[in-house]
Amino acid sequence: MEALHPDIERVLFDQEHIADIVKRMGDEITRDYQGKDLVLIAVLRGAVVFMGDLMRAIDLPLAIDFMAVSSYGDRAKSSGIVRIIKDLDIDIKGRDVLIVEDVLDSGLTLNYLMKNLSSRHPASLEVATFLWKDVAGKQAAVDPKYVGTHCPDDFVVGYGLDFAERYRNLPYIGVLKPEVYS
Ligand code: IMP
Ligand code: MG
Repeated sequence: MEALHPDIERVLFDQEHIADIVKRMGDEITRDYQGKDLVLIAVLRGAVVFMGDLMRAIDLPLAIDFMAVSSYGDRAKSSGIVRIIKDLDIDIKGRDVLIVEDVLDSGLTLNYLMKNLSSRHPASLEVATFLWKDVAGKQAAVDPKYVGTHCPDDFVVGYGLDFAERYRNLPYIGVLKPEVYS
């Protein structure tokens, strides 16, 4: 067992736990998308690690593509401002699109993305998020079809999630020590 990164206060989900969750989600998606024309779209860069695992847990023909949007910048709070930095390369018209997200917090990012993608007339459009910060009193702007696990309203890093582009390569998801970002 490797040592805990010194900037991490505590581990929320370890590698084994993450693998179990991904397997369960892959099974659900495999069951639901039989006979469909599945396209997974990951939102860069945070969802890359989850995308890599999830696509291999789905036992169906599928295509993948990526979009990059910015809403957080280098700070720990959502600005609500979303900008498309990289658009899709493939046409999603008439296809069954599943957006793959690392974490759903306010949902402002996804809400914007979904409106944008709907205007391209996919046959269906759903969201699979690994983490959902659906804590009491907080309402997300979208309703994800697949949820890996619920997450406390802390700033978390690892498994693709960053703070100022760091910690994405941690194999677990952990809570960052507040003194690191304040
Ligand atoms: P939302 O628009 O508030 O739902 O935020 C979505 C995006 O903010 C996610 O895709 C992440 O890139 C980022 N984000 C939200 N919470 C965290 C966190 O705890 N750690 C790292 N990134 C986060
Ligand atoms: Mg993200």
